[in-house]
Amino acid sequence: MREIRERAHLLLLSNVRRGARADGGDFVYICPSPAVYHHQWLWDSCFHAIVMARFDGALAKAELRTLLTQVQHDGFLPHLTNWTGAGRHPIQRRIARWLFGQGHHRRLTQPPVLGIAVEDVFRHTEDEAFVRESLPVLKRYYRHLGVTRDPDGDGLLSIIFPIESGMDHSPIYDAPLGLRAPGVLTYHRANLRLFAHCLRLGWQVPRILEADRFAVEDVSFNCIYASGLRAVARLCALVADPDAGAFAASAARVEAAILSRSYSANDGLFYGLHGKDELPLRVKTVASLMPLILESLPTDRAAALVNHLRSPDSFATPYPVPSVARDERSFLPGGKPLRMSEGLYGRLRRELAKYQLIWRGPTWVNTNWFLARGLRQHGYGEMADTLTLQTAAMIARAGFWEFYDPLSGRGLGAEHFSWSTLVVDMLDDMNSVATPVMFPVITGDEVPLLPTHS
Ligand code: GLC
Repeated sequence: MREIRERAHLLLLSNVRRGARADGGDFVYICPSPAVYHHQWLWDSCFHAIVMARFDGALAKAELRTLLTQVQHDGFLPHLTNWTGAGRHPIQRRIARWLFGQGHHRRLTQPPVLGIAVEDVFRHTEDEAFVRESLPVLKRYYRHLGVTRDPDGDGLLSIIFPIESGMDHSPIYDAPLGLRAPGVLTYHRANLRLFAHCLRLGWQVPRILEADRFAVEDVSFNCIYASGLRAVARLCALVADPDAGAFAASAARVEAAILSRSYSANDGLFYGLHGKDELPLRVKTVASLMPLILESLPTDRAAALVNHLRSPDSFATPYPVPSVARDERSFLPGGKPLRMSEGLYGRLRRELAKYQLIWRGPTWVNTNWFLARGLRQHGYGEMADTLTLQTAAMIARAGFWEFYDPLSGRGLGAEHFSWSTLVVDMLDDMNSVATPVMFPVITGDEVPLLPTHS
């Protein structure tokens, strides 16, 4: 498996972007994909630092330091920062500023992976000074989420736009957007309408939540939030910060809320809740499995989630884990690759393909990474190993793509996609030789067992 590590390292290095910040300091980050995504995205950046930590701890810390500079005074962290001004015409920039106000693209956030990333980078670097330096900002960031996104005080945070989940067009959000079986056009039109609604409310979160048009207590977002709080609690304990207990208590409260409010005893899965009436959004997606990362998930509930992972009707595919369960009406395994192709025709094709709907079936490496960690935590080490090897085989065959067809393993979305290197972290976590117990065994020459160069 060495080869996959080297290729991952090279890819991350080639996606590094550096420059000078307006305030005089420097920025360093790894862009998600030179084909499409040039900016620093919140959760992407965390994943990149987690992988980079084993190759170059200083670079991983520099990436997180760059991200931490974006935490505002009140604790808000925007979902992306356009450091280089890439990909925008001055007129586009002006329109964006008009739409979002000062600092465009800065009204929405993304899943709070930051605490997990700081802890992982510490694990590799053992740099306590880095923890001490990051903690005040980290605490401000997590506290702000709790204060601003939980108006009903039930412990669950609400997202105000689908992309805040990081699972941009997941069918979870079809119903809150007023959609049934949407196509590309209808979906983006609904997104634009929601955008206009938020714009009318001045992008003020309390007003948006009060208006109750799109307010989703999202399972995946909240599981990541709880894990982030746990990580912050451990980091506090590490440096004898007195807030350790408070953060651990917040994490336990969020976990308890997910376990009691989002759980469906009918099928053993977890679902997001919409609006003040907390209507369950019953679409079986990979988010329904994310409670595997919760420390306090009871044994029987973990077993139920594992059964769903094993079931060919649900989430077992040749290249798991699909972002939407196979037996969902909305399951769409395919997609288009967005290559680095040169030439007008290639660029045009890429521009069009950018609007494809994503997170509606294909397999993503970041969710596999979370699930593998969760499986290990709850005693399913062999399954985690199997998932890891299946992920590695998929990448060895296709390369690092944004997402993959769960049936054919074909690479889709953006080419040279950075967070798919998380497979390296998954491989490093393997402590036993796996026997494929969970997923259908792939035979023939389709998937080489050991990675070869593409
Ligand atoms: C896509 C993903 C989102 C990610 C972004 C940059 O929009 O859905 O989660 O952060 O790309 O890679």
